[in-house]
Amino acid sequence: MGLVLRGGTVVTALETYPADVRIDGEQIGMIAQHIEPTAADQVLDVTGKYLLPGGIDAHTHFDLPFGDMSTADDFESGSRSAVMGGTTTVIDFATQFRGEPLTEALENWHDKARGKSYCDYGFHMAISDWKQGMTAQMEELVRKSGVTSFKLYMAYKGSMQVDDGVLFDVLRKSGEMGALVCLHCENGDVVNLLVQEARAQGRTAPSTHPLTRPPAVEEEAVARAIALANMAKAPLYIVHLSTRGALETAERARKQGACVYIETCPQYLLLDDRRYEGESFESAKYVISPPLRSPEHGEALWEGIRRGAVDTIATDHCSFNFQGQKSLGRNDFSKIPNGMPGVEHRLGLLYSAGVVPGKISLNQFVSLTATRPAQLFGIFPRKGTIAVGSDADIVLWDPQATKVIGKENHHCHVDYEPYEGFSQTGLPVHVFLRGRQIVRDGKLLDSAPGGRYLFRKPLK
Ligand code: URP
Ligand code: ZN
Repeated sequence: MGLVLRGGTVVTALETYPADVRIDGEQIGMIAQHIEPTAADQVLDVTGKYLLPGGIDAHTHFDLPFGDMSTADDFESGSRSAVMGGTTTVIDFATQFRGEPLTEALENWHDKARGKSYCDYGFHMAISDWKQGMTAQMEELVRKSGVTSFKLYMAYKGSMQVDDGVLFDVLRKSGEMGALVCLHCENGDVVNLLVQEARAQGRTAPSTHPLTRPPAVEEEAVARAIALANMAKAPLYIVHLSTRGALETAERARKQGACVYIETCPQYLLLDDRRYEGESFESAKYVISPPLRSPEHGEALWEGIRRGAVDTIATDHCSFNFQGQKSLGRNDFSKIPNGMPGVEHRLGLLYSAGVVPGKISLNQFVSLTATRPAQLFGIFPRKGTIAVGSDADIVLWDPQATKVIGKENHHCHVDYEPYEGFSQTGLPVHVFLRGRQIVRDGKLLDSAPGGRYLFRKPLK
């Protein structure tokens, strides 16, 4: 027995066309102008809806420990929030802590996600404690565990930050294996110095946070990272790029032959540094790294997206409650846990602010939110497109439906909503994960989490 989705419009990264789509088991079995159902088939009328490939958010931090607490969202609440917004795959950052072998860190993340995720999931491996000989563990992760991307931080001195030697070593090994290094580009030494100076001057409010991480901190790190990746003959994926200068540097390097991929996030497109104005502690809700920028950076990023310079839009969903978590930094901005939620609203925000006003096409929207992340992270064409043989991860998108985003209607476990009051046009009404309907008429179906681990392929 199959399910025929009748009368909708299929959208891929390349095409938009009216078609019926037949789901057979977990996959898409047929796409045609008209599909005649068999007696055993079910038919769902989806007239007026877009059929989008399930969204892929390649940057989440679910159940991430921070000091003696963890992010507000674990895999259950984070993935629930994801599917309610039309994202059916996340690639989360499994994170190695001091003294841990990478393989142990991976097992740890499997334990966090197993049986709890409503969406399919893969893992990048974030390396914080590099030791000679760990290249063998990288190899094991790529070949035997399906982890084909690694994350390094050039910031967070004293915890996650690695030096240029480690960065070069990991890049070189990744390049050899066809793995991809995801890089947090901020000069952590400079940030650390600026933070110490600000504290010594008695500056405690969250408004100080962006002053310790000016645009040049990102721009310098991006230029250095590209130079190192070139030396290592490795591709590079820059996470959450936030500045005009860094974008221009990356584009210039590409023209000279560098293999650089760029991710940005809705917060750098739709929010700006006015959220830090004044001395109110409310600004702690927006203490993220890199920080929100002045509007001209957002405009430059939109322009970059429009001309195809940006590969992916992810969220960096790393949620902390305002009460009890962000509030740890009430007397010292540098103690505010960095990060904010967003996994639920990525598609809706980008559709509303990008597609509706004509800044980007529907096909670019699909490319940025599903197809490119699938290609770069080794799950295409299984994920990231609507094609015969692909997983039936399908979002039925109602382009007319509207809502106002707010804490009262989001599905993550966070006590505030950074996009509170934003109007959204376009909503996921039905969501299918591998052929199984998990959202119907905008409501999560009462079923156990059915997400599976994704074993990914290297780039070569
Ligand atoms: O502020 C942020 N972005 N926190 C999450 C960790 C990271 O830097 O990606
Ligand atoms: Zn992150």
